[in-house]
Amino acid sequence: MPILSTFAHSDLPSAFSWQAIAYAALIRVTVFHAGTDYAIDGVGNVLTATPYRGQGYGRQVVERVNDRLDTSDADAAALFCAPDLEPFYAAAGWSPCPGGTRVDSHLYSELRMMRMLSPRARAAAKSLLTTTMDVGWAW
Ligand SMILES: CC(C)(COP(=O)(O)OP(=O)(O)OC[C@H]1O[C@@H](n2cnc3c(N)ncnc32)[C@H](O)[C@@H]1OP(=O)(O)O)[C@@H](O)C(=O)NCCC(=O)NCCS
Repeated sequence: MPILSTFAHSDLPSAFSWQAIAYAALIRVTVFHAGTDYAIDGVGNVLTATPYRGQGYGRQVVERVNDRLDTSDADAAALFCAPDLEPFYAAAGWSPCPGGTRVDSHLYSELRMMRMLSPRARAAAKSLLTTTMDVGWAW
C-alpha cells in the first residue's frame, strides 16, 4: 500500500528501505520580476516511476505539493514542464504563463506554470503570468 510522505531535505533518508513510486521536490528561490523580488517556491523533479504511471500517483503528489504551498509564506509557486503536461497541472489549479521564461538570458522551451500564493503576487498576477520572466536557472 503506497504511503505519501513529506521530508525536509535534511531529513531525506540517505538509504531508502522502501521503493519510491512518485516524487516531487520543492525549493525556495528569489526571482526579480518587474522591479520586485518575489519569494518563489519552485517545484521540480515531478516523477512517477515508469511501471506506476497512469494510476493517479502523479496527481496525488501534485495535490500534496499544493497542500504544502497552501501554507507556504512564498509569494508564488512556479514549475517548468513540457507543453503537453499543461492539462495535468491545470487540473490541479496551476496556470500557464504564455509570456515565457528566459533562463540565463536564453528563451526556455519548457512551459512555465504558476500558482499565486500571497496577496501581492495575486495583485501582480497579470504581470507574473503574461510577461517574460528571467530566472538564473530552471529548477
Ligand atoms: C508526468 C507524470 C509525473 C505523471 O504521473 P502519473 O502518475 O502517470 O500521472 P497520473 O496517473 O496521476 O495522471 C493524472 C492525469 O494526467 C494525465 N497525464 C499524465 N501524464 C501525462 C502526459 N505526459 N501528457 C499528458 N497527460 C498526462 C493522465 O492522463 C491523467 O489524466 P486523467 O485523470 O484525465 O486520466 C509522469 O508521466 C512522469 O513521471 N513523466 C516523466 C517525468 C516528467 O515529465 N515529469 C514532469 C516534469 S514537469
